[in-house]
Formats: sequence, structure tokens, C-alpha cells
Amino acid sequence: MNLWANGVGGIAAAAFTLPALGFAIAPIFKREPWSWQAIGTPDDFTDATYETKVITLTPGIGEAGNSIAYVRKRNPAIDTEPEDQYNHYVALSSRCMHLGCPVRFVAAAERFICPCHGGVYDFRGMVAGGPPVRPLDRFYTRLNNGLVEIGPRYSVNDELQRFSPRLPGEPLNGIGQYLYPAQFDTSKKP
Ligand code: FES
Repeated sequence: MNLWANGVGGIAAAAFTLPALGFAIAPIFKREPWSWQAIGTPDDFTDATYETKVITLTPGIGEAGNSIAYVRKRNPAIDTEPEDQYNHYVALSSRCMHLGCPVRFVAAAERFICPCHGGVYDFRGMVAGGPPVRPLDRFYTRLNNGLVEIGPRYSVNDELQRFSPRLPGEPLNGIGQYLYPAQFDTSKKP
């Protein structure tokens, strides 16, 4: 009888805790689909301002799967992070790194402004004010068959070191990179 009661109690407890546990750890195993997407020719971009490009983040669900990327040519005078084949074009995510609202590039001010809580980012996407906890996420870019292509998203810290994609609100400076570990992801990245 005691054993039966314990068994029923255990099942009841599991019924409550397992869904919550699954909800908590599911994002760790979530994989972001990605593919290289052509966004124009090199002549479409300058290093003086950003072009707005619509890209598909989640295929198969129509406009809901689209997002905005802000893209410009790399400018060695201000883009001091190490150059490689994936950053000849700087592509910034429009997702605010506070809570994820879409930011807007204001060309006259050379700033990205978030309408939700006043987050401000400078021309390079670095935090210039407000509550965002890290710079705007970026996308790998490459030149392929004469076209500029945009690839998977990655996150950066204040030194513009690359990290696998993190969620808004997850800082990557100092101890932050250990407190918010990478999502489990086996997809091949550049
Ligand atoms: S979501 Fe952008 S400042 Fe809060």
C-alpha cells in the first residue's frame, strides 16, 4: 500500500515537474535553421551607411519567418575586429539585445534606436545607451559568385568576439559568457 501510494505520488509529481523542466531546457537544444541568402551585388553597399535587407530566418512560415538585417561594407577605419572572409560586409540583426524589439537605423544620427525602452546603439551596433546588455547580433557574410550573401547569426561581446547565437538579455562580457552558455547546436557553421 505504501509502495503504491509512493508510486502514485511520484507520477503526480513528475506530471507537474517534467513539462516545466522540458520548457526550461528546450531552448538549449533548439537549433536555428540557416542557409546562405543572396542580398545583392557588392555595388549595392557602401561603408558610409546601412542598406535594409529582408532575410528569411525561419523558412516555410511566410512573412512571420522574415527579419530585417542592416548591411554595409566593412570600413577598416572603424571595423577594427580581425578581418576574415566572413566580415567583408557588416550585417547587423535588427533585434534589440534587451528584450528583442526591432531596432531602426536612423541615418542622420548614425544610431540604431529601439522604440521599446530607449535602447541606443552606435554606428557599429555597440550599445550607446539604455538597457541592452550587449551589441547587436551579427550575421556571417560572404562574397559568392559575384553576390553578397548573408549566413547564420552570431552574437558578440563588447570586444566583438564571436559567440554562437544567444538570446536577448544574455550578456557576453566577462562572466556573462559562462552564465549564459551556448545553445546545443550540431549544425555546421562557417
Ligand atoms: S527591447 Fe530594446 S530597449 Fe528594451
